[in-house]
Amino acid sequence: MSAESKGLAVVTGASTGIGAVYADRLARRGYDLLLVARSADRLSAVAERLHADTGRSVKTFVADLADAAQVRKLAELIEADKDFALLVNNAGIALAGTLATAEVEEVERIIAVNISAPTVLARAATRALQKRGSGAIISIASVLALAPDRFESVYSATKSYILSLSMGLAHDLQETDVRVQVVLPGATRTEIWERSGRDVNAFPPDWVMEVDHLVDAAFVGFDAGETVTIPPLAEEDDWNSMQAARQAMIPKLSRREVASRYRVTA
Ligand SMILES: NC(=O)c1ccc[n+]([C@@H]2O[C@H](COP(=O)([O-])OP(=O)(O)OC[C@H]3O[C@@H](n4cnc5c(N)ncnc54)[C@H](OP(=O)(O)O)[C@@H]3O)[C@@H](O)[C@H]2O)c1
Repeated sequence: MSAESKGLAVVTGASTGIGAVYADRLARRGYDLLLVARSADRLSAVAERLHADTGRSVKTFVADLADAAQVRKLAELIEADKDFALLVNNAGIALAGTLATAEVEEVERIIAVNISAPTVLARAATRALQKRGSGAIISIASVLALAPDRFESVYSATKSYILSLSMGLAHDLQETDVRVQVVLPGATRTEIWERSGRDVNAFPPDWVMEVDHLVDAAFVGFDAGETVTIPPLAEEDDWNSMQAARQAMIPKLSRREVASRYRVTA
C-alpha cells in the first residue's frame, strides 16, 4: 500500500453495477481496494482499469457470498488487515419469481447473499474499525425496505433487514468515529433486473436512475454525515416526518396492559 492511502476499502459485488462504481469512486478518493464477486475475469478487468487510472493497489477476492465458509474467510481477512478502513456491503440479488413460485434453494440463496453475508462482514468490519478507532460501513439496501407491498416480498424483506441492521449499528457506534451509512436506491439501471428475469425498461423512464448518479449522490450523503441516504427522495422532510412519527410511537410499544381494542370481552 502506498504511503498516501486512506486505507483498504472492501467492496462486495464490485464486478459490475453499483459496486463497480463504488470501487471507482473509492479509488479516486485514495483508498486501496479489495474487490469481491464470483466472476474472476470481470473483477480482474475492473481491478486492472482502476489501478491504471488511479495508481491505487487493487486486489480481487473471488468468492460466492452465498457460501458461509467463503464469507467467513473474507470476514477473517477484514478483521486481520490492519489497513482495513471501509466496507461497502453491496453484493445483492433479486428473486426470480415470488416466495411461492421460486425454488426453495433460490429463497435460501437470497437470504444468504442479502442478509447473512452482509451481517457477518459488518460484524468483522465493526470489530476491526473499533480497534482502528475510525472508518466506515456502507450498506446498500433499497427503497423497497420502505415499500414491501410494491414488489416481491422476500427481496423487500432482505432490504428492510439491511435498513434495520444499519440503523441499529449506527446507534451502537454513535459514540465512536466509526461511520455507518445505509443507501436506499430506487430502480437503478444495472444487470440486477435482467438477472432476475425483469426488464428495467418496462418502468417509466423517469423512475430509473443511472448508476453513476446513484453512487455520486450516495457519496454526497456520506460526506454530509447521513446515516440513511435515499438518493431519489426529493423531499427530505418525507423521511424526517416518518422518523418523527416512529420515535413518537416507540415509548408506547411495550405495556403490561393489552390495548383496549384487543381486550377479550366476556
Ligand atoms: N439496481 C437496482 O435497481 C437496485 C435498487 C435498489 C437496491 N439495489 C441493490 O444494490 C446492490 C447492487 O446491485 P446492482 O444493481 O449493482 O446489481 P448487479 O448489477 O446485478 O451487480 C451485483 C453484484 O453482486 C455480485 N454478486 C451477485 N451474487 C453474488 C454472490 N453470490 N457472491 C458474490 N458476489 C455476488 C455480482 O457479481 P458476480 O455475478 O460476478 O458474482 C455483481 O458484482 C444490491 O444489493 C441490490 O440489491 C439495486
